[in-house]
Amino acid sequence: MNVCIVGTGYVGLVSAACFAEMGNTVTCVDVNPDVVKTLQAGKVHIYEPGLEELVRRNYAEGNLIFTTSLAEGMERAQFVFITVGTPSRPDGSCDLCYVEQVAREIGQHMHKPVIVVDKSTVPVGTADRVRGIISDELAKRGVDIEFDVVSNPEFLKEGDAVNDFMKPDRVVVGTESEKSAEYLRTLYAPFARSREKMIVMGVRSAEMTKYAANCMLATKISFINEVANICERVGADVRDVRIGIGSDHRIGYHFIYPGVGYGGSCFPKDVKALINTAHEYDFRPELLESVDNVNDRQKLRMAERILDYFEPQGGVAGKTLAIWGIAFKANTDDTREAASLAMIKELTAKGMRIRAFDPVAGEKVKPLFENDPLVEIVDKQYEAVEGAQALLVVTEWNQFRTPDFDRIKASLSAPILFDGRNLYPPSMMAELGFAYFCVGRPDPK
Ligand code: UDX
Repeated sequence: MNVCIVGTGYVGLVSAACFAEMGNTVTCVDVNPDVVKTLQAGKVHIYEPGLEELVRRNYAEGNLIFTTSLAEGMERAQFVFITVGTPSRPDGSCDLCYVEQVAREIGQHMHKPVIVVDKSTVPVGTADRVRGIISDELAKRGVDIEFDVVSNPEFLKEGDAVNDFMKPDRVVVGTESEKSAEYLRTLYAPFARSREKMIVMGVRSAEMTKYAANCMLATKISFINEVANICERVGADVRDVRIGIGSDHRIGYHFIYPGVGYGGSCFPKDVKALINTAHEYDFRPELLESVDNVNDRQKLRMAERILDYFEPQGGVAGKTLAIWGIAFKANTDDTREAASLAMIKELTAKGMRIRAFDPVAGEKVKPLFENDPLVEIVDKQYEAVEGAQALLVVTEWNQFRTPDFDRIKASLSAPILFDGRNLYPPSMMAELGFAYFCVGRPDPK
């Protein structure tokens, strides 16, 4: 089939590469000529395991085409996917300017029937809005072309995006048209092999499904973080509590790891956007508001414990903290809404010096701190700890899981370790002589 994908971010590029891999011809359109040039050179501008190889191979085989021209992309396309960004406005609502701009251009370039697919995460009602914009553009041109606007939210995770796309738990399609549903069934057949995996529903239900899924997952994380905060105070260990509750299959072990709060491009934005949508409909979603507030607080919890620890020693001003991990989670270079950034801001405001290392995101964040004399981003993991007063682990990169503790101990001025991801067994840390602070356990004496 012939597919046009507008926007080459995580969702757009992964979808394009995976559709191309199945033999479709996919044209990726991006307004940024530098991104298009990079892709044409066989390089990928985002870090996503397995993606570059897939892009390079399919580009070489001619299944993937990169261009800045939507007209070229739509030339033979049966589907046009909208996968552009939907940034948050300061009030938490979703800024749809890019989606609307693409809808206008689709209306300007449409010359034959096409299925327009909203894949960006967009508030309920956006597909109807996109349909209206395209109809207006067609009317301006005085042409009447059959088209449908379908909602097809994407559930892939960064860091495992190719795998998620290739083997989805489900493919949600929102359309009132059986014909569009059949076309999408064909396009997704190689991925959603069993028919039950393709869930067809109304457009608004599909749009809502995406928000409900992300909000449910975010709720699980804020819930366990809340439990962890109570554990710290009452002398319980959240790691045992997680296992204790997870054994009830209605709860499950999965996706209830306490930590530094959820970050990334989806959960924080989507929770806020659904709260905003509810407010627009005069409804106050108290649970979601709390999920959001608990998360904001959790991102600073380790910073708070660092401040408390150093308080009796004259505070953190002038002291150096080593940080391992800047990305919002492992296996990505994405630092959007990362807890590390919130903690760095909090601690440097109190005069603490930061020496941070991240195996992939480090290079990307260097410009952010160029003019900040308190923050240094280093290229080597152990360089960060040399002479520092304590180490804080923020991201669960594999290379942090079994580090050389003797080396850390020898490098730090005192063996103090704050672990925002519960990577190490507390008993082992005590044996090694570390003052070890982790999530959901009381502070060591
Ligand atoms: C998420 C959804 O998982 C995905 O389905 C959706 O399409 C986009 O949003 P992503 O943001 O890439 O994907 O990352 P994910 O792996 O879900 O993690 C989100 C955040 O939650 C990270 O900050 C992670 O560290 C945190 N998290 C996750 C926890 O703190 N505890 C957990 O148990 C799981």
